[in-house]
Amino acid sequence: MIDADPEPRAAGTTTDLRIDCHRLVSRLMALGEIGAIDGTTGCARLALTDEDRAGRDLVVTWMRDLGLEISIDGIGNVIATMPGFDGVAPVMTGSHIDTVGTGGRYDGNLGVLGGLEVIETVIAARERGEVDLIRPLAVGFFSDEEGARFPPDMLGSLVYVGGLAVEDALLIEDANGAVFGTELERIGYAGPAPLPGPAPHAFVELHIEQGPVLEDEDVTIGVVEGVQGISWTELTLNGESCHAGTTPMRLRHDPGYVAACISAQVRELTTEFGEPQVGTVGAITLTPNLVNVVPSIATLTVDLRNTDEGTLQRAETKFRSFVAATAEAEGVGVETRILARFEPVEFDEQVIDIVERSARALGMSSRRMPSGAGHDAQMFARICPTAMIFTKSVNGISHNVTEYTEPEDLEAGTNVLLQTMLTLAETEFG
Ligand code: HGY
Ligand code: MN
Ligand code: MN
Repeated sequence: MIDADPEPRAAGTTTDLRIDCHRLVSRLMALGEIGAIDGTTGCARLALTDEDRAGRDLVVTWMRDLGLEISIDGIGNVIATMPGFDGVAPVMTGSHIDTVGTGGRYDGNLGVLGGLEVIETVIAARERGEVDLIRPLAVGFFSDEEGARFPPDMLGSLVYVGGLAVEDALLIEDANGAVFGTELERIGYAGPAPLPGPAPHAFVELHIEQGPVLEDEDVTIGVVEGVQGISWTELTLNGESCHAGTTPMRLRHDPGYVAACISAQVRELTTEFGEPQVGTVGAITLTPNLVNVVPSIATLTVDLRNTDEGTLQRAETKFRSFVAATAEAEGVGVETRILARFEPVEFDEQVIDIVERSARALGMSSRRMPSGAGHDAQMFARICPTAMIFTKSVNGISHNVTEYTEPEDLEAGTNVLLQTMLTLAETEFG
């Protein structure tokens, strides 16, 4: 428990402190140029690719330029901490700089560069004697948050908090058989820092909402109360390839047909369950993928999410029995691989309250809400008091090259992060 409800500071002290939005946007744009997708404002920096390495190198350079102490651990997480506090647990922020294949410039990047901007602002204020810290601030980027190349998502922060042994994580392979540990060595980010990592004093992550709620309601700040449960499954359907013209329908064992039925059923399941149930078939591959050949193999991924664990389990049970029945009727074999499974997470009420009060002290509208997307914060919630701050996404779009957040919303979210981190630095948790 916090032993004192820290009121937002009186004006004239750190509440008057503000980030430099121009500097923040300049860094976001510079990072967004790495892996830029021609003709768009998007970028592709899949985990542990050369583009990811280049992005890491740029952010580490900015961290070093601020004189921060940098630690790199065995799964490639990078954490930069203000020096001179003799090992006192930091108030940590951070997110990810890896992207999906059609990524935008803000997903994850805002949380990392917003945190760096907060630290740079506070360092300058300390030098002016305006701020006195009893514990350091730290900012990190965590490996493979997207999980788009190496599932599960949030892999780096999961290993950091001890949710998965690093030895097991390093063996994960991508769709082409590349191994996580080998790729991490190749890009030069297999670091010495121990895993699991030390628990921060508190963790708060700034992130774009990636949905339409804040914009629809014209609310500036999302005070995030938790993250919904995530279930990722990969299905390999084994049928029999044959001639598309000569083979009667009754003799076919068509995995492409079963995959299509599954995709339709995932949508029907969300309609039957109603909000907040969501379901997505994001990847389907047919082999040999030719116009006149009934496919021999279909592989597909199914992403199911719900804020309620029991309902998510019911959705999984319903989906799995549909797959079994449909495949059997078509005479198609099924191999199932669980790519990710995380239960819903509730953030710390006291940290949520501090985020909300910081927004209010800055005169910003806010509303409490769950996160539909997974985030590194959901892993840190396992080891320290944690919450998140959302800022608007234009048209609610993300995981799309047109992802955009207005500069005033970048600034608003990062100023709430600044105030929240300073308040957390003075807060003792029970
Ligand atoms: O999948 C997610 O929710 C996150 O973007 N990794
Ligand atoms: Mn993200
Ligand atoms: Mn994402």
